[in-house]
Amino acid sequence: MLVFAKIKSVQQKINSLKKGASIGFVPTMGALHKGHLSLIKQAKKENDIVVVSIFVNPTQFNKQEDLINYPKTIDTDLSLLKSVYCDLVFTPTAEEIYSNNIKSQVFDFDGLEHQMEGKFRDGHFNGVGTIVKRLFEIVTPHKAYFGEKDFQQLQIIRKLVQKHHIPVKIIGCDIFRENDGLAMSSRNSRLTEEYRNASPFIYQTLKKAKIKFGTISAHDVVQWVENEFKNQPLLELEYFEIADEATLQSIKNKEPKQKYRAFIAVFAGKIRLIDNISL
Ligand code: PAJ
Repeated sequence: MLVFAKIKSVQQKINSLKKGASIGFVPTMGALHKGHLSLIKQAKKENDIVVVSIFVNPTQFNKQEDLINYPKTIDTDLSLLKSVYCDLVFTPTAEEIYSNNIKSQVFDFDGLEHQMEGKFRDGHFNGVGTIVKRLFEIVTPHKAYFGEKDFQQLQIIRKLVQKHHIPVKIIGCDIFRENDGLAMSSRNSRLTEEYRNASPFIYQTLKKAKIKFGTISAHDVVQWVENEFKNQPLLELEYFEIADEATLQSIKNKEPKQKYRAFIAVFAGKIRLIDNISL
């Protein structure tokens, strides 16, 4: 497994490997867990060469505190990447990516950026768009893999690629979960035992909401979920929305042939957890 921190050297290597070989790319911010590894394993199956980036992107954090506290576990990350036969790792510094200008480009994602996470994390998706576009320019992959765990991010990346004519195929991957259903996240390790024990309730509720959506209106499902969380002293619901998968706009009533998904954000103490389910 090769590790590069410089743009020039990673580009040189990729250009020499690319002759005839397909490149799969998995961008990450490190603190890797089995959710990330599931993306890398899928990329491994579908490409000759797999490139993973590890970069804690400053422009997508709206709170400086979150950026500083983001877990950094590079040694463990590199051994995990070796264990799944990753071929090449790109670990740039912020200076290498942004020089002295740590700023986001401003994007128009046709309104996707104003829904759900966009309402609570100002500027977040401009930061994500900026770094992913830059990484695509550097790595020039044939396919890039993103988790449905961050479904809004996945749809925004699809929009980015479409609007900017970037020649890469975006692959959405299933959410990888703990045995008790909690979606894997680098934040889970920061939950105290009490909050960790309470958090499987999130996915349990999503599964029940999915069943209810078959018989009652979206509006009534939302009310039901909000009530369920009122009885959970350790979990504070930030939002629960049922939205159209393509526009991410929340709906009150379903229409035939449309694809819907339920999205949730919950505070378990200070830790913010997100999840979603296809309906
Ligand atoms: P990060 O949070 O490290 O996630 C990297 C990728 O792993 C994302 O595509 C995310 O959706 C996916 N992922 C995380 N947990 C998952 C799970 N439980 N199951 C399936 N996939 C999972 O998302 C980012 O980094 C950044 O925003 C990034 C795209 C790298 C841009 O900086």
